[in-house]
Parts: sequence; C-alpha cells; structure tokens
Amino acid sequence: MVIKPRIFTAKDGRKVVLRSVKWEDLDDLIEFINTLVEEDADILRTSKVTRNEEAEWLGMRLASIDKGELIDAVAEVEGKVIANSEVDKRSDIMSHVGVLGIAVKQGYRGIGVGAELMKTLIDESKKAGLRILVLDHFATNKTARRLYEKMGFKEAGKIPKGIYKNGKYIDLVRMTLEL
Ligand SMILES: CC(C)(COP(=O)(O)OP(=O)(O)OC[C@H]1O[C@@H](n2cnc3c(N)ncnc32)[C@H](O)[C@@H]1OP(=O)(O)O)[C@@H](O)C(=O)NCCC(=O)NCCS
Repeated sequence: MVIKPRIFTAKDGRKVVLRSVKWEDLDDLIEFINTLVEEDADILRTSKVTRNEEAEWLGMRLASIDKGELIDAVAEVEGKVIANSEVDKRSDIMSHVGVLGIAVKQGYRGIGVGAELMKTLIDESKKAGLRILVLDHFATNKTARRLYEKMGFKEAGKIPKGIYKNGKYIDLVRMTLEL
C-alpha cells in the first residue's frame, strides 16, 4: 500500500517528509541500515548489508507494497532517508494482524520522527482494515518502550532470553495495540 506523502516540522525545526519507499532510496537505505549495524542498535541484524542484498530486499519490499501486503513509511530530511518503518500484514486466519517495525538514524532521534511515523502507520493500518498491531522490543530498549507506550501499545508478554547478542541474553518483549 502506497501512503500519501506528508510534511511535518520536527522539534528542531527541520522539515521532514513522510512517504512510501521508492527504488531511488537504495543508496540511502544501505547507509541507513549499515549505520544502525555499526552503532550496535537494538535491531535484529548484526552484519552490514551488501548493495546486492539490499537491492534484493528493496525489490521484494516494493513488490509487497504493490500487492498490499506491506505498509511502509520512510522519513526524508534534506533529500536523504533517515528513518524506515513498516507494518507487515500477516495472512489467512491472522490477516487482521500487522507486525510493526521502526528505526530512526542517529542524529535524527528525539525530534519526533519516530512518533510521527508510528501515527502514520497506525492510521494506514486502520484504513487497511487491520485490527491488531504487534511488535517486539529488546527489554533493555527503554527509548523504544516509551515511544510504544506513548502510542498506546501494551505489553502482552515476554520471551525470557529471546535475544542472544554480543555474548549476552536479553529478554524479548511483545507489545500489542488494538486498533
Ligand atoms: C526507538 C526510536 C525508533 C525512537 O524514535 P525517535 O524518533 O527518537 O522518537 P521520538 O523523537 O518521536 O520520541 C517519541 C517518544 O519516545 C521517547 N523517547 C525518545 N527519545 C528518548 C530518549 N532519548 N530517552 C527516553 N525516551 C525517549 C519519548 O517518550 C518520546 O516522546 P516525548 O518526546 O513526547 O517524550 C529510535 O530511538 C531508534 O530508531 N532507535 C534505534 C533503533 C531501535 O531501537 N528501533 C526500535 C527497535 S524495537
């Protein structure tokens, strides 16, 4: 599902465009994901992507958006993609459920981009007829937790030691939002 582009002013005064991802974003997306890997952010990926891997991933993503299986929203500042987010629709007996993911690049956090992306995804998910959103976060990720609570998500449960990263186990928390 392609979303209607929208511009908002971030807390630091910068203009932010929220829109669907496009093929021309490939280079920005490579830099974006590899920066997150470098800073050891609380995401599932731990190794950098190659251009081919990212191109394959983006191709599949654009196809899923076209088929209405994925709701995607990126944030662009001064012509560069600085955040990516999505709701991945489940299928069959779970077709009322979407799985949400979000990340904002270092240097652009704490200025409201994450909250605006989440609001967009929630609105678009409602429009698409979804009834429940789910997401997982590292139990240690307090920033993400605050954002999700602010958006109305409630904890549904915990998988103890659900993550094993850098030689340590971390609990994985699942949160849900009824739309
Ligand atoms: C988690 C993340 C998406 C938040 O996005 P963001 O754009 O920085 O968030 P916002 O500026 O919109 O802030 C929204 C809310 O999050 C919370 N928040 C943001 N930054 C915070 C910080 N440094 N400390 C504590 N809470 C914080 C606050 O509740 C804030 O609302 P408020 O400003 O009204 O207090 C971003 O930090 C990120 O991408 N981190 C790395 C990747 C990641 O952890 N992704 C989530 C994986 S589950």
